[in-house]
Order: sequence, then structure tokens, then C-alpha cells
Amino acid sequence: MNCKKDFPIFKNNPDLIFLDSAASSQKPQKVIDTISHFSETNYSNIHRGLYSLSLQSTEQYEKSRNIISHFFGVEPQNCIFTKNGTEASNIFASGFSELFLEKGDEIIIPVSEHHANILPWMHFSRKKGVKIIFIHPDEKGVFSFHQFENALTTNTKLIAFAHVSNVTGQIFPVKNIVQLAKKNNIYTVLDACQSAPHLPFNFTELGVDAAFITGHKLGAGGTGCLFLSEKFREVLPPYLFGGDMVDDVTEDDFSLLPQPSYLESGTPAIENVIGFGAAIEYIENIGGMKKIEAHEKKLLDYAFHQLKQKLPNWKIVGPKNPDERSGNISLYHEKIHHSDIAVLLGEKNIAVRTGFHCANPLHHFLKIKGTVRMSFWVYTDEKDIDAFVNALSEIEKLFC
Ligand code: ALA
Repeated sequence: MNCKKDFPIFKNNPDLIFLDSAASSQKPQKVIDTISHFSETNYSNIHRGLYSLSLQSTEQYEKSRNIISHFFGVEPQNCIFTKNGTEASNIFASGFSELFLEKGDEIIIPVSEHHANILPWMHFSRKKGVKIIFIHPDEKGVFSFHQFENALTTNTKLIAFAHVSNVTGQIFPVKNIVQLAKKNNIYTVLDACQSAPHLPFNFTELGVDAAFITGHKLGAGGTGCLFLSEKFREVLPPYLFGGDMVDDVTEDDFSLLPQPSYLESGTPAIENVIGFGAAIEYIENIGGMKKIEAHEKKLLDYAFHQLKQKLPNWKIVGPKNPDERSGNISLYHEKIHHSDIAVLLGEKNIAVRTGFHCANPLHHFLKIKGTVRMSFWVYTDEKDIDAFVNALSEIEKLFC
């Protein structure tokens, strides 16, 4: 894959080594051009005006919904636009708690989840007297399917888990977990923020009850989606109340528009959603998710080989087998603080995330004081990995 040329950030920062796509990906020219063209020629509010600009705006916004729904295997009415993954997670957690959770229920959550898939459950379950059962990995940070099986009780109501961990890169066995859940009448919600940019992802085929993704990791900022299964169509209560969600309002009452509208109250980030559609078209144009997955698999193999050869004193968190991972590698050195690493890498124009990656409970459980994470996307190449590995090797010489 030779995609760097499609991303103007690299033309404008020729020395940049960007290995922080798990925090947020760069935007392809197509997305930037689509947003500017729309803003210059078509912008107006959606679903309101009957003048041609507004009708075109609505058409483009809904076209994005169709592109995204088709790409991720979900019915357009069950694809709810949000401003990011966190908002999508909160909409689901709030509604699910209100409707389904009762005192004494339990929710299973892997301790590796990032905060967007922990905090909403902590917040809403406390209100209901629901217990969160964290499941834990081995000392290397690796989960096995049995930990999900072992955590089930007759009180389990929901399993909330990520498709891919944003720290360990581990790919979770979604189909097995869904099968287990269905057999026991347990609901499932999948955090797909860290898998959607890296793996083929078909919501309907996976069979979860709900899932959420974020646009900014797919090259389109300010957007996200909540995907709902047919079972949840028009089931969740509204999360935000206001314009664009109601059919009629009187002094005494209001009636809701059908899904997805009633879950998308207020004027959305119209241009960003249109940019999100363009980001998905860009992914299709460069060969689609299978090609991206293969590209990143090669990078993972290469990175693992380089790390083993050149950085034997650094510990990698998560599976040692690159086939069990996707998109990112977090590592640490017991004698070097992650903030020192961040500063020294920053001086070399190497962009990575260091610290806890919004996944504090996993780091606390593993008793790790922070990791340095390199993460990939379509524009990453072996030279980026070389620069990172060589820089860490120099840093190690400075400190040890
Ligand atoms: N969840 C994002 C990350 O992994 C922000 O950095």
C-alpha cells in the first residue's frame, strides 16, 4: 500500500513519523476536499428547509448514512449518527440501563476496555444497583475465551467488550462470545472503535445487539455511529431532546419521529458526516478492508521482528503472536518513564501515544506505570517502524 501521498499532512510535515492513529487518524485529501467543497457549494441545515440547497444537503447527509451502513452491514435506520464513539456508547448505556437493568444484575466487562466502554456502565449501573464484573487477562495482558465463560452467572445481563483492545491490540473472539451470550439470553454490545479502521467488520454477521464506532479513527473527525440490531429498532428511549427528533409538539406532549431521527436530536455536524461518507469511499477506492488488514498484518510481523531483534529489554503487552492482534503495539521499559520517552520521541518528530491510553484499569491490573504505543493505519510503512525502533534503542542507551 502506498497511501502516504493521499494524506496532505505528510506533504506539509515531510519529517513526520506518525504512529498515533489509534488516538486519531490523519485525513485523506478526499475527505478534506469533500468537506470544503460541500461547505463552499452546498452547506445548509438538513431535514428542515424546502429550498434546493437544504434538499441537497439532506440528500448528501443521507447518502453518507447509506454508504456507511452498507459498508458496515447494518440497516440505514439502525445506523445512528453521533459525534464520536463515546456518545454512541452513552446513548446505548443510558437507554439499556433504563429499560433492562435491575438491582442485582451483572455486566461483564474486560478490564482492558477503554474508558468509553467502562464509564457509562459504571455511571448507569451505580444508579440501578447493578454490579460490574471485570474479567482479567494473564500477566502478559492476554485474554482467553474461557474467562468470559467463567464470569457468567445467572445474573449476567450484558457483556460489553471491544473487538480489538486499544492497548494490547488483541482481537477478541466476537462470534464465540456472541454465541455464548445468546445461549444464555445475555445481551452484547461491541466497542468497534479500534477494529473498524483495521479489520473487515460486518455488524449483522457478527450478531451483537449493538456496536459503536468512531469516525476520527477512520479519517473523518467529529462523527461516530451507534449500530443497533433489529431487536433494538425503536426500542431505546431518546437520549437528547430537542429539534429534528419530533413529529409534533403541543403544550402538553410531543411525538417522536422514527429511528434514526429520534436518537439524533439537534443540528448534527453535517459536513463531518458527509466527510465520513467520503472517508469510507476512500477506503473502498484503495482496495477495502481486506487489503488494509493484509497491509497491517505485514507491518505487525515486521514490527515484532524488529522489536525482538533490537529491543529485547522492552516488554510488549498483549499477545506475542501477531496473528492475534490488530493495529497497535504497546511496550514499556522498566527503567524508563513513558513521559521521558514521549518527550525524546517528540524531539525526533515521532508521534506516538504514551501513558495509559484511556485504559487505566488494565495498566493498574498489570501494575504497569504506562506504556508507549505505536499504532498503524493505511499510510504507515516499514520506515516509520524503523525510525521508532531505532529511536527507542537510542533512548535505552541514554538511560541504561
Ligand atoms: N481511544 C483513543 C486511544 O486509544 C483515544 O488513544
